[in-house]
Amino acid sequence: MLKATKLVDEELYNIVVGELKRQENNIEMIASESTAPIPALELSGSVFTNKTLEGYPGARYQSGAEFADKMEILGVERCKALFKADHANIQPISGSTANYSVYAAVLKPGDTVLSMRLDQGGHLTHGSTVSQTSKYYNFIHYGVHADTEQINYEELEELAIKHKPKLIISGGSSYPRLIDYERISDIAKKVGAYSMADIAHVSGLVAAGIIPSPIPHTDFVSSSTTKTICGPRGGMVMCKAEHAKALDRGVFPRTLGSIHVHVMAAKTYVFKRAATEEFKQLMIQTVKNAKHLATCLEKDGFRIVSGGTDNHLVMVDLRPKGINGKQFQEALDYVGITVNKNMIPFDTEKPSITSGVRIGTTAISQRGLKETEVEQIAAIMNKVAENITNQEVLDACKQEASDLISNFPLYQEDFDPVTI
Ligand SMILES: Cc1ncc(COP(=O)(O)O)c(C=O)c1O
Repeated sequence: MLKATKLVDEELYNIVVGELKRQENNIEMIASESTAPIPALELSGSVFTNKTLEGYPGARYQSGAEFADKMEILGVERCKALFKADHANIQPISGSTANYSVYAAVLKPGDTVLSMRLDQGGHLTHGSTVSQTSKYYNFIHYGVHADTEQINYEELEELAIKHKPKLIISGGSSYPRLIDYERISDIAKKVGAYSMADIAHVSGLVAAGIIPSPIPHTDFVSSSTTKTICGPRGGMVMCKAEHAKALDRGVFPRTLGSIHVHVMAAKTYVFKRAATEEFKQLMIQTVKNAKHLATCLEKDGFRIVSGGTDNHLVMVDLRPKGINGKQFQEALDYVGITVNKNMIPFDTEKPSITSGVRIGTTAISQRGLKETEVEQIAAIMNKVAENITNQEVLDACKQEASDLISNFPLYQEDFDPVTI
């Protein structure tokens, strides 16, 4: 895949090979990451890169669209069939722009929106004070119960009645539990709001049918395509038939210029792959691995936020170990396990320090790791937490992690992403 680059720009080639080796040699456990299948890499780098295109099939602003039209229609049909959605728009170039397009479809500047707090599981684009979204719209936030660390639906309803939002958002980036989409949509209907579920993290699990889908209940469902759905860096939005026109306008021309047609091709493939039994089994194993990781870490004295997980991510409170998220992330990085520090509900640490880490199991499950290996990873994590400044122990952990992951190739050998 990089043969031509190697010939013309060896310096850059070596950087990309370095990244490939990093991914191969590390145990990647960032919950928003996955390994894009080779066809998705190929399609993202295909000649569709050369095509400038705006608008929709049959109503483009540029000619020469016959193959791109065919492809977008195929991608949209696959996406609709996969999620059982009335309508899909697969043009957004990321999960963030997917969200902006819903806002552009139904909101005016100054409108009130109700969403989950970022530090209790939400996302930056859901009106965090550091996001531009909070400057355009009046965001109000609900959170989780202090004891269960699960969504406080009573608070959500009270805030909805009090503030009469135009849009209620569910979903987030660090919420390990199932969401009662029906209940949230009912609250939205009661107060005359639109409902939107951001399933960026869990769209693979929803596609595989192993966790409940918001599609039957929610007006708009947005997602990125990089996380559990294991695709290219992109986004998409689905909606009920009556919102199709508004959504399409929200995407183009309101929040998008020309389409990343090459990435749309990769998404189109990923929707086919996500409909297979093999993908379903992968998603089942991903959740099993996350649940097992939570159990093992809890046994070792970590506190698991909300007491467990229903999806691909585990939120870990490090305070019982006397360490913070930054220290643990850095020490794990040294031993070759990649995670990210993350605020936990009611965290008293700064976002740059945090009391917790977020750990995901998608990428390791793709490589074939199962419960036995998850136990080994949990044991390494515990040794690291207990010996955070002991260089000898960290070095031994590094060797152990390297030995473990070397048995599970990132890509099969006959699909080497550098040499094909
Ligand atoms: C819930 C949620 N929504 C949206 C996004 C944004 O996706 P992207 O990084 O593709 O813009 C993320 C990414 O982490 C997310 O977790």
